[in-house]
Amino acid sequence: MTERQYNIGVFDSGFGGLSILKEIRRILPEYSYIYLGDNARAPYGTRSFETVYRYTLEAVTKLFEMECSLIIIACNTASAKALRNIQQRNLHDFGDNKRVLGIIRPCTEIANTFTKNNNLGIVATKGTVTSKSYEIEIRKFFPNIQITAHACPMWVPIVENGEYASDGADFFVKKEIDALLTENPNIDALLLGCTHYPLLLPKIRKYLPEHIAIVQQGEIVAHSLQQYLQKHTALEASLKKNGAITFYTTDSQESFSAIGSHFLSETIQAQQIQL
Ligand code: DGL
Repeated sequence: MTERQYNIGVFDSGFGGLSILKEIRRILPEYSYIYLGDNARAPYGTRSFETVYRYTLEAVTKLFEMECSLIIIACNTASAKALRNIQQRNLHDFGDNKRVLGIIRPCTEIANTFTKNNNLGIVATKGTVTSKSYEIEIRKFFPNIQITAHACPMWVPIVENGEYASDGADFFVKKEIDALLTENPNIDALLLGCTHYPLLLPKIRKYLPEHIAIVQQGEIVAHSLQQYLQKHTALEASLKKNGAITFYTTDSQESFSAIGSHFLSETIQAQQIQL
C-alpha cells in the first residue's frame, strides 16, 4: 500500500504570505503547496488577540482538511497572537504528525546578523508591535540588541488594495519611517516584520537613509524551513513532491489572481473558499 502524501500549507491574512511563499518555492520547489489568504477579513493587524486566534484556527483547520501536514503561518500578526495557542491547545485535535510553524522565531534567532551597532528597527502591524513578540524573543538570544518597533497601520491596507506603487503610498511610507527614525536615529538595520511590506520595498528604500540595511523575512523563513525538513525526516518523507501549487482566498478570486500575480511575478489563478 502506498503511504498517504501531504501538502505544505502557507497561510496569511491576505497577500502578504506570498512574499514568504515565493522564497520557499525558490529554495524548495519540489513540494506541493496550498496557499490560503483570508483577504475577506484582512487586515488582522488591528484585531484583538481572540479574533486573530479564532480566524487563524479556522484557516489552519481548513488547511489540515485539505491534506496539509505542515502549515507555515506566513503572517507575523497571527504568529504573534495565535501560534502558541494553536500549538498548545489545538494541534493534538488534528491527529498525529501535524505541525504548525510561525515566522517570527526564525528571524529572532539570527537577529545579531542584521545589525552591526545593536540598534535594530522593526516595522510591523499594530498587533505585532503591541504583542512585543520580537522584543521578547530577541532578548532571549541577544540581550544587547536595542529594538525600536514601530507600527505602520496604513501599510497593509495600501497593499491589500493594490496601491503599493501609487504616489499616495509615498506619504504613508515616509511618515512612518520619519517617525521611526525620530524614535531611534541610531538604527542601522530595519526588519520588515510584516509579510505585506516587501511590496512597499522600493518606497521604503527611497525614504530610508542609505546606510540602513533592510531585512526581509522570505529568505530567512525559507532557509529555516529547509533546515527543519532536514531534521524531521519522517515528516519530510510524507510530503508530496510534485511541485504543485494551489491558491485559495476568502474574497474575490479575480482580484486575488490579479494582485497575487504581481506579488509572485507569475500569472496565478486563485479559487474562492469559505472558512
Ligand atoms: N501580513 C501580516 C503580517 O505579517 C499582517 C497583515 C494584516 O494586518 O492582516 O503581520
